[in-house]
Amino acid sequence: MGKIETKIRRVELSDAETLASLGAETFYDTFVGTCSVEDMDGYLRATYSVEQVRRELSDPHDQFYFAEVEGVPVGYIRMKEDYEGLPLMKQWRAFECKRLYVKKEFHKTGVAQALMDFFMDYAIRNQYEVVWLGVWEFNYRAQRFYSKYGFVPNGHGHPFPIGNTPQTDIWLWKFIS
Ligand SMILES: CC(C)(COP(=O)(O)OP(=O)(O)OC[C@H]1O[C@@H](n2cnc3c(N)ncnc32)[C@H](O)[C@@H]1OP(=O)(O)O)[C@@H](O)C(=O)NCCC(=O)NCCS
Repeated sequence: MGKIETKIRRVELSDAETLASLGAETFYDTFVGTCSVEDMDGYLRATYSVEQVRRELSDPHDQFYFAEVEGVPVGYIRMKEDYEGLPLMKQWRAFECKRLYVKKEFHKTGVAQALMDFFMDYAIRNQYEVVWLGVWEFNYRAQRFYSKYGFVPNGHGHPFPIGNTPQTDIWLWKFIS
């Protein structure tokens, strides 16, 4: 599929239900089969409940944007200046892409690029020195996508358990010159 017209817009508090359902659907499609059914159910309930999503949307520094095609959200990005995951990043002005998820029907359409281009433009406009993100060590598709943007592993990782299923994320970064 070629590139399709994509509009990026900030997710509002009133979009909480749509974001919760898009978040759960895309997380499920990405990680189904990598953990037990119970672990997946518990993770989805805790992370993508409307209440939890509302809490995150209430923090003005925790920014969510939808990618919309013909007015319908088909992907989203979550971005924040947040050093909690890897405190050594504090030595720079660093901006984290905390999530980037696109519905599977819209992979390879340019929707993910529209979101990533938006993230990079935002980081450059706001004078960040480095952008960074975590990715599951076996998510080769996402790693390939990020490598096309110049992200490289920084040698650090962190546990990303889904319930009782241990998983490891690796940190990737890209310095902005
Ligand atoms: C990651 C994601 C945003 C990338 O968007 P996309 O539209 O699929 O990206 P693209 O098609 O432009 O790029 C993916 C690349 O990975 C390649 N790829 C696909 N499957 C792959 C695999 N199993 N192993 C290695 N590379 C793979 C594709 O060929 C493509 O590379 P190419 O352009 O050199 O051919 C999207 O796939 C997605 O939302 N995935 C589910 C959620 C997710 O994993 N998010 C990241 C969490 S950190």
